[in-house]
Amino acid sequence: MTYRLAVLISGSGSNLQALLDTQQAGTLGAEVGLVVADRADAYGLQRALQHQVATAYVPLKRARNAAARAAWEQCLANVISAFEPDLVVLSGFMRVLSANFLDRFPDRVINQHPALLPGDGSNYVQTSLGVEIPALRGAHVVADAIRLGLPITGCTIHRATPLVDNGPILAMTEVPILPGDTETSLHERIKVEERRMLVEVVQELGHVQRSKIKAV
Ligand code: GRF
Repeated sequence: MTYRLAVLISGSGSNLQALLDTQQAGTLGAEVGLVVADRADAYGLQRALQHQVATAYVPLKRARNAAARAAWEQCLANVISAFEPDLVVLSGFMRVLSANFLDRFPDRVINQHPALLPGDGSNYVQTSLGVEIPALRGAHVVADAIRLGLPITGCTIHRATPLVDNGPILAMTEVPILPGDTETSLHERIKVEERRMLVEVVQELGHVQRSKIKAV
């Protein structure tokens, strides 16, 4: 039984590449069946094509118009559900998805976030340094971590809920902020951990699903 992934991206797709490479090496225990982007220039689409993975481009044209947004979400969900994925991975997908979308894939949507998040929706995270840091949410959290002078940040994979960057935590890794770090240098170090974690989480979720099916 293949554990099927739909991966949603808006940009480079280096995390997607980690999934594709591990799949090619035969150790992912899952198959990337579909890659969807909301931007035509998302380089991750090329990565998918190079691996003969089906792609879809679903642009959101009038982001501020509620009806247009709802129609876009429905179209996005229709495209994805045609592939019957076991897991939908938001991997650098820079759009907020509402309950209307998430309800189409109950317990099947996970999100990657390049900062530490608390599992309980609060606004602070306890770190191994013994200090609490603010939970950073939104699209600019790597820059925010530097701007706030935090000693440490990290990355999280969590189940997606309608609340932005909130939901039960599946994996988290701390990344220290080094003197002289720029947004680019810090984000690159965070992404090294994100790629490893994403592969591990997918392997684990696939394993759990296969064990459940065997047990029935
Ligand atoms: C990652 O840092 C992810 O957490 C964030 O966007 C970045 C995607 O990187 N949401 P890439 O496109 O996989 O290289």
